[in-house]
Amino acid sequence: MPLLGITALSKEFGGLRALDRVSFTAEEGEILGIIGPNGAGKTTLFNLISGIYPPSGGEIIFQGKSILRLKPYQISHLGIGRTFQIVRPFQNLDVETNVLVAYGHRFYPSLWKSTGPFRQPGNLREVQTLIERTGLRSYAKHLAKNLPLGFKKRLEIARALALQPHLLLLDEPSAGLRFEESAQLMELIRQVCDQGIGVLLIEHNMHVVMDLCKRIVVLDHGSKIAEGSPEEIRSNSLVIQAYLGKEA
Ligand SMILES: Nc1ncnc2c1ncn2[C@@H]1O[C@H](COP(=O)(O)OP(=O)(O)OP(=O)(O)O)[C@@H](O)[C@H]1O
Ligand SMILES: [Mg+2]
Repeated sequence: MPLLGITALSKEFGGLRALDRVSFTAEEGEILGIIGPNGAGKTTLFNLISGIYPPSGGEIIFQGKSILRLKPYQISHLGIGRTFQIVRPFQNLDVETNVLVAYGHRFYPSLWKSTGPFRQPGNLREVQTLIERTGLRSYAKHLAKNLPLGFKKRLEIARALALQPHLLLLDEPSAGLRFEESAQLMELIRQVCDQGIGVLLIEHNMHVVMDLCKRIVVLDHGSKIAEGSPEEIRSNSLVIQAYLGKEA
């Protein structure tokens, strides 16, 4: 049984087919690359999996059960975490509190109103471990809004990991990062995957995708036009056309 099974998934916005009968599966401990030109439907796919929009058709099976009619918080409780294309931590909370809020979210959906009762040694230890793992230790007491972009992106991953996900959806984690920051973030993603967590990675940087992913799904105009190994994707004529067409 795959970790995630997507079948004929579609989404229409007015007359626009943002996603058109897309099917694929993802496994535990796998980094599955999701690529495609701007407007291909990649973020829409994540919005459907995480329950932000209801699909117009199709099925989403997570760990053997349909998650089609669940609300975003129910889906995150089941173990699907995500980061956003535009980072959105609680800007005026420090790094530690941001992670603590995400950690407590599993128990109290409205915990953000007060983290006081939740600052117990056991919970704080868990939060510290996550902060260490994501390389945020020196920034633990800094407000999220003051972090450099590379560390805001790490914080997004720390917050997603705090939900103890089985599947992590990462939307362009390396966008806007310098080469070195991006390399460090990719190493973090590799470690996450080594722990058995499945990762769906939307990424525009082809070097990153080809390096991290053994399998890649390509979307264009809402449809899946290819799926395969980096070698297969690189030499696929539909993929080359989709990318060159947009750039020409
Ligand atoms: N909430 C919405 N309402 C209307 N149209 C939308 C909405 N969200 C996305 N779309 C449209 O759906 C299409 C797919 O958008 P989506 O954001 O999924 O693309 P993407 O592959 O993530 O692109 P990018 O690489 O630029 O992030 C686009 O034409 C977009 O304008
Ligand atoms: Mg997008």
